[in-house]
Amino acid sequence: MNKIKSLTAPISVNFEVTDQCNLKCFFCFCGTEAYQSSLSSVSNSEKIKNAKRILDILAKNNVFEIRLFGGEFSLLKNWKSIVEYAYDLDFFMSFISNGTLFNEADIEFLIDKKITNCGISVHGLDSLHDQIVGIPGSFKRASRNIQLLSDGGVKTSVLFTPTKTNILHLEKFARTIIEKYGASSVGVNRLFRNDRYENLSFSDYEYLFGIIKKLQDDGLPVFFTGSFPRCKVSTKYWRYMSNCSQGMAFCQIDYMGNIKNCSSLCVNLGNIFQKSLQDIWQKGLAEFRTLKHLPLSCRLCPSFCGGGCIASRTIEQNFIADEFIKLPNEETLIESITVTAKNYAKKWHSMIYTQPRKKQTTKKWQSHDKPHVICRYKTRKEANDYYLCMIEKKGIVVLNKKSISILDLLNGNNTIENIEKKLSKKLPQKIIKEDITEVLDIFID
Ligand SMILES: C[S@@+](CC[C@H](N)C(=O)[O-])C[C@H]1O[C@@H](n2cnc3c(N)ncnc32)[C@H](O)[C@@H]1O
Ligand code: SF4
Ligand code: SF4
Repeated sequence: MNKIKSLTAPISVNFEVTDQCNLKCFFCFCGTEAYQSSLSSVSNSEKIKNAKRILDILAKNNVFEIRLFGGEFSLLKNWKSIVEYAYDLDFFMSFISNGTLFNEADIEFLIDKKITNCGISVHGLDSLHDQIVGIPGSFKRASRNIQLLSDGGVKTSVLFTPTKTNILHLEKFARTIIEKYGASSVGVNRLFRNDRYENLSFSDYEYLFGIIKKLQDDGLPVFFTGSFPRCKVSTKYWRYMSNCSQGMAFCQIDYMGNIKNCSSLCVNLGNIFQKSLQDIWQKGLAEFRTLKHLPLSCRLCPSFCGGGCIASRTIEQNFIADEFIKLPNEETLIESITVTAKNYAKKWHSMIYTQPRKKQTTKKWQSHDKPHVICRYKTRKEANDYYLCMIEKKGIVVLNKKSISILDLLNGNNTIENIEKKLSKKLPQKIIKEDITEVLDIFID
């Protein structure tokens, strides 16, 4: 039976430093009454003061990455002092923004503070985007900043929220924003259901998957970044889909210290000024991790995708199964068994027909080489022989004690032969060259 393992603390945190925004996107969940009433109204200086206290707590809990979020973080007066503070605490940092408020100096500042990737939300070209966000000139400003960020070496993904207004424009939009404006990729997310606008149907998503595949076939990096029940779509789209890590490795915190497992939800799990982060993270999500909010077919699923999106039916309640799968009490035992059998068939089909990604050719290491890992990375012990490691621009890997000990010595001062000898004395098992090259393959391209 599938179950989610609890980490000691989240790995990555969306930090909602303000609820205010300069744009008026008609679909924005921050604009709902329920969302607004979940946040307190406080002064700018209070937000900055709280932000620093929050960052201290997150650093103490070994959170690796902070993603500045809002509202619009760059609207907060003195937002740079938060970036400075997080930089001094040595967080990996990125941001999600509408990209309209930065000037050249701001972008230089962000680059200087080692921000190497970000997401800029744009939902159409030119006047279509301006109409969606409600402020003329927004496309011009955001697209100029995408160019400036990309030129400065910041990996800039464009985030496209599909609605009935822009869904048919995705293909042209993605080609233009990548080819003309230098976006590193386009991520298409899920539109959360709400009465304020016309919602998307299952066939709308099927249409989007088809366009994403077409763009990918043409070599363009376009992905479906929202989570979606995989069993409901053809296996040919699986490689362009991602799983959501809300409540597993990721959470959101607002400027009052309230924690949520998902950014779009209005439900808080607890406040880190009142309770420890570990308590909120481990106890507050214990029930969720048993997956009882999902139908039995998900708990038995051989290609567990997280069960789609918990915010897809409503953003006002937590832990609800995706709108395109059944609720636990709606699924009969026969249905669970049938869905599970089909899921095994799909999994085998995808394993047979999906070509494995080509393994990168790795450098041939000699025993006298003195390898030096120079990329930025952070590690954290989770259990006795289980460490998490976040590598800048690469993501998360799980390492054991042996790999961590090897990593410590990959500092340019030790030959491979030396490392073998040193560690074979220190560790219970003998360390051979292959153990070392395995670690090098992860850290050195
Ligand atoms: C809430 S905004 C905050 C950061 C920033 N202001 C921005 O627009 O990127 C973060 C992301 O949520 C997306 N979003 C807002 N409302 C949504 C909804 N109802 N359904 C799906 N995504 C939504 C936005 O398009 C944006 O990409
Ligand atoms: S820019 Fe972001 S926060 Fe502002 S209204 Fe649009 S989606 Fe919401
Ligand atoms: S986890 Fe659930 S929603 Fe996801 S593929 Fe499996 S059965 Fe479908």
